[in-house]
Amino acid sequence: MGKNGSFSRLTDENKKTLRSRAFNFRWATLESGVIPLTAADPDITVPSPIIEGIQEYLKEPYLSYGPAEGLPDFCQGVADFYNRHKNSDVKPEEVFAINSAASGMFLVAQAVIEPGDEVIIADPVDFLLERSVLAVGGVIKRFDRRPNTSFLEAIKEQYSTKTKMLSLCNPHNPTGEIFDRHTLEAILKWAKEKDIYIASDEIWSDIVYNGATVHSVRSFDKSLTEKVFTVYGYSKSFGLAGLRIGALIAPNPEWRETMVKRSYAADTAYGVATLSQIGAIAAMQDASWSAFQDILQHYQQNRDWITQFVDSMHTLSAIPPKATYLYWINIEQTGHSADFIVEHLRNKHALAVIPGNPTFFGPRAEGHIRLSFATTTDVLEEGLKRLRKGLESL
Ligand SMILES: Cc1ncc(COP(=O)(O)O)c(C=O)c1O
Repeated sequence: MGKNGSFSRLTDENKKTLRSRAFNFRWATLESGVIPLTAADPDITVPSPIIEGIQEYLKEPYLSYGPAEGLPDFCQGVADFYNRHKNSDVKPEEVFAINSAASGMFLVAQAVIEPGDEVIIADPVDFLLERSVLAVGGVIKRFDRRPNTSFLEAIKEQYSTKTKMLSLCNPHNPTGEIFDRHTLEAILKWAKEKDIYIASDEIWSDIVYNGATVHSVRSFDKSLTEKVFTVYGYSKSFGLAGLRIGALIAPNPEWRETMVKRSYAADTAYGVATLSQIGAIAAMQDASWSAFQDILQHYQQNRDWITQFVDSMHTLSAIPPKATYLYWINIEQTGHSADFIVEHLRNKHALAVIPGNPTFFGPRAEGHIRLSFATTTDVLEEGLKRLRKGLESL
């Protein structure tokens, strides 16, 4: 791990830095003393090969314009990374450097959705999938993605002649579930038959437990992915949220060109900082992957620890996530709403977690809270202590 931290403990210096740098519901946005197990980027320091890659680049003091579609090494890097780690067949000419996975989902919606078109998304799912569609006048249709439901049937029920796209989050934020290969293939075949687009957000696809496999949409036969866009990002596995960097993998080079034009990257009005691309290139190399494996092992321990914790609390229940560093916990047995529990924990027990409410995730999120466990052992230990006390004091 980087010289500034360890997996076991956040030093006072680390905390001071996070309080000034970690926004988006985290340290810098909360009253001092509140522990954030909230938004989804890590307290773990960035793997040192990434920092070294950026430092090396800066030895030559030129920061010139890059190409509209992204640096050739970035596009090649994404293709190699996907083909090596996600059993895929991606060509560099299909890759577009984007300023985040979030912007990738917005770009796809912008390019394929006309006002009034329907888009099928999960319920619950991260708000990004809904917002990207609403931003361009699309209409949301939600399928039940609570655990133990038949996703394919639920998706089919939402289809109408107005359906233009299906947006997937795989692995799934917030439930931590993964589509099995058989289901994903059936979804791809069905979407092809209906001639609709798919946007697949795979930002969580590196963070998997117990050796589980995430099947990228790009690991299927090319004939099934002619209208399939894949989005990948570096904020989760590598802690690079502040660099605003992601990758959009288009179905073919022509679609990549369309996206470059639609984003105004070709006019230089959009584009990813070359320095961010350099960070991502370093992240996709083997040294960073190997550092990430250590981080993953730590997340696995955190996940297993929360599983034990949840089992010990009679008011909580959960299905352990197969992927992501998010724990989706059912709190219905407390007899209170998620918003009430979150307020109570924050105001009385100095613990911040995310409520499962419709604004963040959709109507079927009610009755849950979401914990991020991308933190050090000491912070998680204190967070779980506060959670226990908070729930026992209700
Ligand atoms: C499914 C999903 N996509 C995208 C993002 C945001 O990624 P980025 O920082 O690359 O925009 C998140 C963050 O929580 C997420 O959960």
